[in-house]
Amino acid sequence: MKKIIVANWKCNPQTLREAQKMFLELKQGIGRGEKAEAVVCPPFVYLARAAEIFKGSKIKLGGQNCALTEGGPYTGEISAVMLKNLGAKYVILGHSERRAIGEDNVLINQKIKNVLKGGLTPIVCLGETAQQKQNNETFLILEQQVREVLQKITSTQVGKIILAYEPIWAIGGGQSCPADFALTVALFIRKIISQIANPTIARRVSLLYGGSVDSANAEDYLKTEIFSGLLVGGASLKIKEFLKIASLT
Ligand code: 13P
Repeated sequence: MKKIIVANWKCNPQTLREAQKMFLELKQGIGRGEKAEAVVCPPFVYLARAAEIFKGSKIKLGGQNCALTEGGPYTGEISAVMLKNLGAKYVILGHSERRAIGEDNVLINQKIKNVLKGGLTPIVCLGETAQQKQNNETFLILEQQVREVLQKITSTQVGKIILAYEPIWAIGGGQSCPADFALTVALFIRKIISQIANPTIARRVSLLYGGSVDSANAEDYLKTEIFSGLLVGGASLKIKEFLKIASLT
């Protein structure tokens, strides 16, 4: 199956001028043979410009978060429908950096339902903290996250969601998760999906790995069918590095 390589630019860069430069570099560099679906999730304020630049290219766009509802009196929120109307296809939900400022599984579950209704594909982040890993709670936490974020979502809809295993201890620090550990967790996540939905969906659901991915370690996760692709943070800001990762697939 086609791999998905997602760039999460987080709160970068600081100017539209820099963002444009990056979009253009991406557009020029992509499409020379890579089989993966390349997705860029820039800050909201750059999405419209990205959509113009990427018109006619294979690069897809995503948001990094979105509102709980379609619209209305929600100061500071951006709805899934707005993202869709701008040309976005994906939206990252429940990133650990958003969980750190108060988002929980219940809220993420509501956002997933809203995003599916709005016609976008949610990329739902899961992962344990360093402390939880140390306490041998990885599987406990992951099971709870998967079950709670997928609460009352039909099997068919589960099949439309992308999940991303992003161990929090592996994010941003240059210490990626050993591939064998990531694979064990990924298989466990698929087992839970099999119980929630069914074995076919569990096999087919897209599952990404994220956490200190770079061009040197990307292949460790990409070479197995267990992972459907990657969610790349820091390395995605270096366009050449991101293109290199996308070309590995
Ligand atoms: P890094 O690749 O910088 O570790 O970030 C991963 C991430 O949080 C992607 O969503």
